[in-house]
Amino acid sequence: MNKPPKILASEITPQALYEGRRQWLAQAGWSTLALSTSITSLAWHREARANERLALAAKPNPQFFTAEKLTPYKDVTSYNNFYEFGLDKADPVVHAQRLKTRPWTVRVEGLVNKPRTWDIDELIKLAPLEERVYRLRCVEGWSMVIPWIGYSLSHLIKATQVQGSAKFVEFVTLADREQMPGLKSRVLQWPYTEGLRLDEALHPLTLLTFGLYGEVLPKQNGAPVRMTIPWKYGFKSGKSIVAIRFTEQQPRTSWQVAAPHEYGFYANVNPEVSHPRWSQAQERRIGGEGGLFAPRIKTLPFNGYAEQVASLYAGMDLKRFY
Ligand code: MTE
Repeated sequence: MNKPPKILASEITPQALYEGRRQWLAQAGWSTLALSTSITSLAWHREARANERLALAAKPNPQFFTAEKLTPYKDVTSYNNFYEFGLDKADPVVHAQRLKTRPWTVRVEGLVNKPRTWDIDELIKLAPLEERVYRLRCVEGWSMVIPWIGYSLSHLIKATQVQGSAKFVEFVTLADREQMPGLKSRVLQWPYTEGLRLDEALHPLTLLTFGLYGEVLPKQNGAPVRMTIPWKYGFKSGKSIVAIRFTEQQPRTSWQVAAPHEYGFYANVNPEVSHPRWSQAQERRIGGEGGLFAPRIKTLPFNGYAEQVASLYAGMDLKRFY
């Protein structure tokens, strides 16, 4: 695929305009991202140049939409967990800028009829890109609402012809000491790995993600490709993926290995199962008025996506399989 065009300052959609477009979208249903504006601001202009922000066109999908207030772009891109670039929330925006995201390949392998090493620019073309507004809740008790860009992982799974014996998917992310200063820390087992049951991976909500806010993924958010699984805690959404592996056995994930009594394989958002250090009953929306003192909101089972996904867990004891 051609590289996405460099974004011009005149094409950047300021937050206020973006919000306006969303309100309209909520009423009107479908639209396109081809909204142009002549409104510019010096600050946005400077930021765009510094971070090499690139536009990524996608069609909003009203099936996957919430009218809740979006988390401001600045918070989405400067309050991050990406331990390969440091343990502090403010580290990734600084240290991830050295990550080289081209050339980049993703190996799709394991129990499949069609294993393939995808060039990222081919992978991004496999299915039409959609914009979907998802809530993402971190196990630490904060949450965001983000307009992501990607397509259902199921498109890739179908193209790969997964074999009948495959029951799970493992996501392996980049571990490169040259580019990732956080790998010196032993806090996690590297590479960072995550996993899903195959039926979870096939669920239409499960998004192979290439962008957010109308642009290619910022590096601190997992460029060039990450997962977004909105009914699970944020740590299930592995960033900067280099391999997707289909297995018969349940994969061991980095967080489970680090602290099995704190982090389970399923990690479904569940207000009734507390983490040993953080209650899961409430959450704080990042970027809202009032900052740290903003009133907390109730956390919903499956992060509000119960209607779509609860049936995947029928008959399972979710206190045991946390
Ligand atoms: N992926 C990798 N490779 N490394 C990480 O440290 N952190 C996870 C997840 N994916 C992490 C990762 C955690 S704990 C969260 S909450 C989300 O990324 C945060 O994503 P965001 O910074 O885009 O909000």
